[in-house]
Amino acid sequence: MNNFVYHNPTELIFGKGQLSQLHDKAKQLGSTVLMVYGGGSIKRSGLYDNVMSLLQEAGCRVLELAGVEPNPRLSTVKKGIEISRQEGVDWILAVGGGSVIDAAKAVAVGVPYEGDVWDFYSRKATPAAALPLGTVLTLAATGSEMNRGSVVTNWETQEKHGGTTTFPTFSILDPENTFSVPRDQTIYGISDIMSHVFEQYFSHTPEIPLQTRFAESILKTVIENAERVLANPEDYDARANILYSGTMALNGTLPVGVETDWATHSIEHAVSAVYDIPHGGGLAIIFPKWMRYVYRENVSRFVRFAVEVWNVDPAGKTDDEVALEGIAATEAFFARIGAPTRLADYQINDEHLQVMAEKATPFGPIGNFKKLTSEDVAQILRMSL
Ligand code: NZQ
Ligand code: ZN
Repeated sequence: MNNFVYHNPTELIFGKGQLSQLHDKAKQLGSTVLMVYGGGSIKRSGLYDNVMSLLQEAGCRVLELAGVEPNPRLSTVKKGIEISRQEGVDWILAVGGGSVIDAAKAVAVGVPYEGDVWDFYSRKATPAAALPLGTVLTLAATGSEMNRGSVVTNWETQEKHGGTTTFPTFSILDPENTFSVPRDQTIYGISDIMSHVFEQYFSHTPEIPLQTRFAESILKTVIENAERVLANPEDYDARANILYSGTMALNGTLPVGVETDWATHSIEHAVSAVYDIPHGGGLAIIFPKWMRYVYRENVSRFVRFAVEVWNVDPAGKTDDEVALEGIAATEAFFARIGAPTRLADYQINDEHLQVMAEKATPFGPIGNFKKLTSEDVAQILRMSL
């Protein structure tokens, strides 16, 4: 196991009715708040009204940054920074999915920074200060509610990059707020959560049994609950188990002491930067192809994956056969729940394939399980067409 320091300051407030805690949090964080939200789902579900009354009861003046796009854009973030500076905002409240939270994080670190907030995404700078940020999560997927990552798209340059920004001070997760997530977004969320585990599970670091079993238990929990939640979107326990899995998959628990990969996320971000497709949809397509491309780097890890996660019976089979059966089981699962399986499902052909391969590797080769050059990425994309 490698050395590590683990620190996560986000207060996770989980369960039915927990939104009521927003009142006290608001009183602690200051009287002027910027509420950040997306394209209207929170208005349709009634969450907007509930949040607004709690903030007003707490005596807050509420400003709004509405219309944050899925794959949030730098231009929207800059609007939020401008409003916050003009109005002397004390803290930010994100109400929505990962895109809304990521945009809110960018605003939180952008306000006290004198340079261009894009510097945090193009690796020119790291934030030294941030406004406090609270979140009310409505979609199980990114883990953004309990980490300091943020992914923003610069649409002018067609670049989508993750930056290290700021941890939320608190995050409120009520599974009932995810009941209204549409079927396709539920599927993308499941794919994203599983992909986060894959990025941290496929590793060469030896002797990491606890991290390995944590990862496998998240995968099994998501797999067990996926079809349940798709059959009944208002199944509280299934929604709760997927929601908590999403948080645990990317709150810093899994990578401690482990060399992680993250190449597939870079590849997906490059595809989204050019075609603006849903993140989880892109991952469901690309991850199994990445697996096929790299599994020989450490076949025994893929054998373990097949046996422990997909219950593949290894008797009488070669390691290669078992590993490939595990990858096929992953593909079959994504197909079974209705995830896209090929880039063609999004009308993507090989036209910009080379451009995407370059965009996925702007700082040099990516990944650790196998270092991938732009040429490797082009091959994986070709397998994904
Ligand atoms: O915009 P609204 O109207 O709110 O609708 C959203 C949006 O259209 C809708 N939605 C969310 N909650 C809902 C709901 N609809 C009905 N009922 C609800 N309760 O779902 C759509 C997608 O929302 P979005 O926030 O884009 O989804 P997600 O949470 O999957 O976030 C994706 C973004 O996060 C980034 C991705 O790249 C992408 O930009 N990521 C962020 C990470 C992080 N910060 O740690 C890590 C991830 O790997 C990922 O890259
Ligand atoms: Zn992801």
